[in-house]
Amino acid sequence: MSFFSNGFFADQQGTPHLLLGLQAHNSSTGIPKMLEKEMHAVSLYGGNLFEAPVYWCEVEKREGEFDFSTVLELMDMCRERDLHLILLWFGVNKNGHPTYCPEWVKADPRRFPLAKGPDGGDVATLSPLAEETRRADIRAFTRFMDFLHRADREIHTVVAVQVENEIGYANTDMDYSDAAQAKYRQPVPQALRGLSLEDSGVKSSGDSWVSCFGRHAHEAFAAWCWADFIQRLATSGKSVCEIPLLLNVMLGENGFEEPGLCYNSGGPVSRVLDIYKRTAPAIDILCPDIYLGNREQYRQVISSYSREDNSLFIPESSPTGIANALNMIEAAADPRFAGVACFGAATALDEDGNLLPEAREVALSMRTIASVAPLLEQRAGTVYAIVQQEFMDKQYLRLPGWHVECLFTSANPSRFGLGSFINPLAPSNRDLMETRGRGLLIQTGENEFYLAGCGIRADFRMRPEIGYERSYVQLTSRMNGTLNFLSVEEGHFEHGTWVTDRFRNGDEANFACFVHRGEVVRIRLNAAR
Ligand code: DGJ
Repeated sequence: MSFFSNGFFADQQGTPHLLLGLQAHNSSTGIPKMLEKEMHAVSLYGGNLFEAPVYWCEVEKREGEFDFSTVLELMDMCRERDLHLILLWFGVNKNGHPTYCPEWVKADPRRFPLAKGPDGGDVATLSPLAEETRRADIRAFTRFMDFLHRADREIHTVVAVQVENEIGYANTDMDYSDAAQAKYRQPVPQALRGLSLEDSGVKSSGDSWVSCFGRHAHEAFAAWCWADFIQRLATSGKSVCEIPLLLNVMLGENGFEEPGLCYNSGGPVSRVLDIYKRTAPAIDILCPDIYLGNREQYRQVISSYSREDNSLFIPESSPTGIANALNMIEAAADPRFAGVACFGAATALDEDGNLLPEAREVALSMRTIASVAPLLEQRAGTVYAIVQQEFMDKQYLRLPGWHVECLFTSANPSRFGLGSFINPLAPSNRDLMETRGRGLLIQTGENEFYLAGCGIRADFRMRPEIGYERSYVQLTSRMNGTLNFLSVEEGHFEHGTWVTDRFRNGDEANFACFVHRGEVVRIRLNAAR
């Protein structure tokens, strides 16, 4: 059985699935009314994925006694709605804290010790080095995975399991307990030798943490402690249920980027990704939770996590606002994009279950990505993001055979109107003037494209061949510009196959190819000269 295909999550038949959806709020599991509402939100975003937590404190209230009825309920509800499900194991560490540990764990700090800060005081994180803590969490997680194997092996609703949640030490850069410090004084494990962390200032050679990782020694050690714990958990879980395992991360690209102060120390932040890859190979994807609105930072994070050995899957991001609506499109154009989800499904809806105005932009972007999912899943072509950043009136793409100029509606309203079905200046179309143009252009053949999105008018001009003397003549001919199409079809995908809903021609094709509110058009250009 294959769990990945083309870098995407795959079903039992090996069919790849781009995952798009929403994550439940932290306290939704076990509350069917809340879950119903949140799953309904997924459908309004055009998604196919629901993510929800499984609480250790709930499934093992009394030590050694397990009850997975809430997990079954989640699976049943997703099956009824034809949704994929990712379960999040909220075990020993949720955002650094032990809040989801059962009471018998919380109430017994001798058996399950907390890590210590530099002042010797307790920090609100259980030590991953404590033998009893490891044993207890690993046993519960393995029982959960065993349950999953038995309950889901036929239908395969659960496509992945996330291990813990944004792990690490909260409020300290490492564990300063005697036990941890004794470990810190031991030589760096062989597998990590030779790794160099950016900006570490390492000059010497040796086998201590400081000689290998310089100013990042504490963080590197913390990362190794957590990665080693996660590897044990993941291996044990996979021994009873072969399913992709994910590890999400509280980003290091936060504030002034110092561990323990700006983010949990020891989690798989960009700086220590290689430590995780070498120490916890049982984790299939290290996944950034990206709440950053800043485009440059967002792109930086994408480029760190999209690697040959790591698909790009974003399990949490903002469900509202224009920033994530734009950034998500950039992520979708990444060649290793496997999916994206937004956190807090219920916050997207009003009392009556309608999308709140502030959620509409992200929902539209997600629907846009979903509208071309079959092309992405087949990696059917080169994907270009078209995104109207602030002050942009258009975006130019230089493709191998074509100049593509994309005009954005809000900045060029008079260029729309007749010839694009609607006049953006009409009061009823105010939304078109208020939104940012964005979408995906997918080149599936030398002269074939799909354009999906909103607020864009794309113009294609064939680029003259290098050395062609009459290039100006070619470029200025309308037969090489706006009239250069063989066909422009508006349509959608059904079970992976393109279905044409309308052939655009005349006014609707002779001036440009446009998308207003999430349509998809297939454009076949004429390269004959
Ligand atoms: C990140 C965490 O991973 C989520 O569980 C949730 O707490 C969000 N932050 C929003 O608060």
